[in-house]
Amino acid sequence: MNVEKIRNDFPLIKQGFIYFDSAASSQKPKIVIDKIKEIYESYYSNVHRGVYRISAKITEEYESAREKIARFINAKSQEVIFTRNATEGLNLVSYILSDHIEEGDEIVITISEHHSNLVPWQQLSIKKGAILKYIDVYNDGRLNLEYLENTITERTKVLAIGHVSNITGIIHPIEKIIKFARNFEHIYIVVDACQSVPHIKVDVKKLDCDFLAFSAHKMLGPTGIGILYAKEELLEKLPPFLYGGDMIDTVELYETKFNRIPYKYEAGTPNFVDAIAFGYAVDYINEIGMENIYNHEKKLLDYFLSKMLYLDFVELYGPKDSKDRICVVPFNVKSLHPHDTASFLDYKNICVRSGHHCAQPLLKRMKVGNSVRASLYLYNTTEEIDIFIDALKEIYKYL
Ligand SMILES: Cc1ncc(COP(=O)(O)O)c(C=O)c1O
Repeated sequence: MNVEKIRNDFPLIKQGFIYFDSAASSQKPKIVIDKIKEIYESYYSNVHRGVYRISAKITEEYESAREKIARFINAKSQEVIFTRNATEGLNLVSYILSDHIEEGDEIVITISEHHSNLVPWQQLSIKKGAILKYIDVYNDGRLNLEYLENTITERTKVLAIGHVSNITGIIHPIEKIIKFARNFEHIYIVVDACQSVPHIKVDVKKLDCDFLAFSAHKMLGPTGIGILYAKEELLEKLPPFLYGGDMIDTVELYETKFNRIPYKYEAGTPNFVDAIAFGYAVDYINEIGMENIYNHEKKLLDYFLSKMLYLDFVELYGPKDSKDRICVVPFNVKSLHPHDTASFLDYKNICVRSGHHCAQPLLKRMKVGNSVRASLYLYNTTEEIDIFIDALKEIYKYL
């Protein structure tokens, strides 16, 4: 993997920013940015509507993007729904499953969830009188599966789990959990794959999940576009989410026949420009190869941890090793507010996130307040880590 060549493809990286905030949103390669500009300038028109040539071209490219993304996660193209982002995908699932949840039913999630895979289930439980149960974590954020038999039971209707933690970068053993959950017939299995699809190979058939959601903007694609994968037979039988144009086949005054899937779940004009550009991001990732990306990140994480563990003025959270992890590292400079650390790093053109990272229950469980989070991706280097470590040492000197 030629990282120098890759860095050259990212305009913002070329400007000299040390971008360590890819878990929040990744940078975009020029081919993605150029594609958006090209569409608006050269053949912009609506999708699925016009018979004229430029509209037909848009429709063809939109459907081709769907096919590429489907292949990327080993799904059928009719199982891939374009959404605004992962959050919308997860809310969509909680909405269409709501008729299946009754008082006393159980919904199982983990303490490690991003708010996007927690609040929708919490609110559904409140509304339906269902019981929300949590799979616990150890102090370092790894899932504690000791009590799985007591947590997932005959009464469980939904299991919704995050694949990779956005706080610790831990890749959770969801295959094992899903296998256990499949002992019960009536469980819908939902995966929040927002932090996994960009970094590790995800195969929905192998995982055997019913639903899986992720966002384009965390994997080199544009903002405002995401994916919800769902098994074909479920999309056929479950109700639509939104009503309106495109999701219908025929409309009578008192009756509507819905469109075939996936269109039944794509009401209104979709964000087709960004969907097409997302397809280009997937091409770009495929060209580099997911395995190469994972190995590069593993090397970065090992290097990062080896340096951070030597800094006695830094408190490192999460596991201290790189086993089953992507390169996401939460920490604090002791006695310094995370926003101050992040602001100081900003003076050095280093971008990191600081705050609660949209997973407050996990931070509370790990007895961590707000923190700084460095998250790296395919365009980062060990040289950038060296600059980052020197910047932290400088902060300490000023303290
Ligand atoms: C694990 C996880 N799930 C869900 C989301 C929500 O993604 P989006 O804001 O793109 O909907 C995020 C975003 O940070 C995330 O990290």
